[in-house]
Amino acid sequence: MSIPTTRPGGLRFKLGEFAKRVAYRSKWLNFLSRPRFPLFGMQPAQLAWLVNKIDDTRRENKTPGAIVEVGVGLGMTTVFLLEHMKLNNDTRPYYCIDTFGGFLEKDIAFEEKHRSKDRREMEGRFAYNKKEIFESNLKKAGYSNQVVICADASTMDFSAVAPIDVMLLDVDLFVPTKAVLTNSMKHLNARSYIMVDDCQPNSLWDGSDQAYNEFIQSHSLPRVIVGTKGGVVEKV
Ligand SMILES: C[S@@+](CC[C@H](N)C(=O)[O-])C[C@H]1O[C@@H](n2cnc3c(N)ncnc32)[C@H](O)[C@@H]1O
Repeated sequence: MSIPTTRPGGLRFKLGEFAKRVAYRSKWLNFLSRPRFPLFGMQPAQLAWLVNKIDDTRRENKTPGAIVEVGVGLGMTTVFLLEHMKLNNDTRPYYCIDTFGGFLEKDIAFEEKHRSKDRREMEGRFAYNKKEIFESNLKKAGYSNQVVICADASTMDFSAVAPIDVMLLDVDLFVPTKAVLTNSMKHLNARSYIMVDDCQPNSLWDGSDQAYNEFIQSHSLPRVIVGTKGGVVEKV
């Protein structure tokens, strides 16, 4: 089905612009057109860092690797980064790994028992997701180098996505964050960059922060935070 286009200067175009003017200036309709930061959990500094590392690894690594996002949610960051790669004709695979059913019971139980978190804040979150719909959404958005994998990140075999150039690790809870950091290490490319989201103490999602801290301490790495919550690990 072809979508009707609006010819600049045509009646449809003029009506569209008029509707925008009315909505923009109306006290009641202004919510439709006022600028707002999109539905991202990610901050501008984090997105800029990821874009730069995607470009740096493309130049730096002799063997092309993969971009990996562990914990994809709706796919907002996924399309942001896929769009960047598409504009640059960057054809490296972009792996999207998720349970596509939200948090796992064993991971929530750990937060409750060992980290004193309220399980009601976690249960049911992201459970709307479905692999087939996520896949179809990315295709409809015009992307083709994504590979969608339904898995528990804690037990995922990262040799399947190796070598990793850039990884965004955004699964919020301690158990899968710690497991992915540990299990992915031997599958990194010569130069490789990891960002762990939610590295902020005293928050609902500070399991990520604890996992990041334990990991960098055990590898004698510095704590480097991009924006206010992007904990990074660099293999250079
Ligand atoms: C905050 S969302 C990710 C947001 C996304 N990265 C973005 O920037 O828009 C967290 C995701 O982690 C996923 N997740 C949680 N535990 C997981 C696990 N053990 N294995 C795989 N995915 C998991 C959830 O299903 C959810 O989709």
